[in-house]
Amino acid sequence: MNSKPCILVTGGTGFIGSHTAVALLQAGFETVIIDNLSNSYHEVIDRIDTITGTRPAFHRVDMRDDQSLNEIFSLHQFDAVIHFAALKAVSDSVDQPLLYYHNNLVSLLNLINACMQHKTDKLVFSSSCTVYGQPEQLPVTENTPVQKPHSPYGNTKKISEEILRDCSAASLLNVISLRYFNPCGAHDTGLIGEFPIGKPNNLMPVITQTAAGIIPQFEIFGNNYNTPDGSCIRDYIHISDLADAHVKALERLIRKQNDSCFEVFNVGTGTGISVLEMVNAFERLTGIKLKHTISGRRAGDIEQIWADTSKAENVLGWKAKLTLDDMILTAWKWQQQLTQKTVYTK
Ligand SMILES: NC(=O)c1ccc[n+]([C@@H]2O[C@H](COP(=O)([O-])OP(=O)(O)OC[C@H]3O[C@@H](n4cnc5c(N)ncnc54)[C@H](O)[C@@H]3O)[C@@H](O)[C@H]2O)c1
Repeated sequence: MNSKPCILVTGGTGFIGSHTAVALLQAGFETVIIDNLSNSYHEVIDRIDTITGTRPAFHRVDMRDDQSLNEIFSLHQFDAVIHFAALKAVSDSVDQPLLYYHNNLVSLLNLINACMQHKTDKLVFSSSCTVYGQPEQLPVTENTPVQKPHSPYGNTKKISEEILRDCSAASLLNVISLRYFNPCGAHDTGLIGEFPIGKPNNLMPVITQTAAGIIPQFEIFGNNYNTPDGSCIRDYIHISDLADAHVKALERLIRKQNDSCFEVFNVGTGTGISVLEMVNAFERLTGIKLKHTISGRRAGDIEQIWADTSKAENVLGWKAKLTLDDMILTAWKWQQQLTQKTVYTK
């Protein structure tokens, strides 16, 4: 292996991929990004360069195109892959299931095939806590049973884990699947962050876009859940902590410390925060009153979930360091930079 391991980051101009590319470059990894820019912008590469002082190689590739993907594997000798590239909007996936199954699963199959052909035997996969559905017991551990997903998107994550489990058992491939809870926040420079194209679905961009006057008011879906304040509870995790978890997972694979060829880790903070708590915290920190209404429950939403993170702490040596205030303040800084000037032109 090279002194500087070379890592392929698929979907690397996206929200989580770009922060992970920064963390990888800062940890001394050579980093190559591929993305079809369907949900992100080329300018992110400039931003990564500005933050790290190193420009990652970038190739515009649609991973459904196996020939183009194989060409990238011929150009570089990858030691490992972190696979972020996927479509991720839960409600879109209900309307367009074929698009989601095709994009997320064909991309994964092509990637596994390219890894096998080019002898890249380490892969970190972006999974999601959606695989747990509404668990009966909280917090959820990695042994909590996986349930039937509520959406085609969630099902692509469940099926992808099954594909990776089977393929790693039958080949030299070693996989770590990271089950993310709710990533939010932005890089502390305010140069990269979550940039939803179209109407945002996740709570933090909904809040920051409302505060910025882009959304006149937002809806809180349900205030009669069986939670202390009646709104849904999630485990929000700062994007920079999440990026660091990928570096830890990669290092575990590179040092051959994995106990089996397919491992799973929860990546959250271990703390549940309700929608109303998040709204109150944003108002307290920024002094901005958020206009919102309470509407009925949204189909597909679970009531509450948060992670047991002890496996990641004990085995990966990773623990979230940043607070809810850090998530809110960095997300707000990022939103203000976006509204002050035009960025990210295709
Ligand atoms: N953000 C979340 O809340 C969350 C939670 C759990 C899991 N995940 C998973 O994490 C990963 C990254 O999510 P994100 O929030 O950064 O999303 P994102 O949309 O910002 O990034 C995904 C990137 O993949 C690219 N892409 C999609 N299909 C592609 C294809 N066929 N070929 C090449 N590039 C393609 C998009 O252009 C985008 O830049 C996804 O797999 C997502 O499902 C995200």
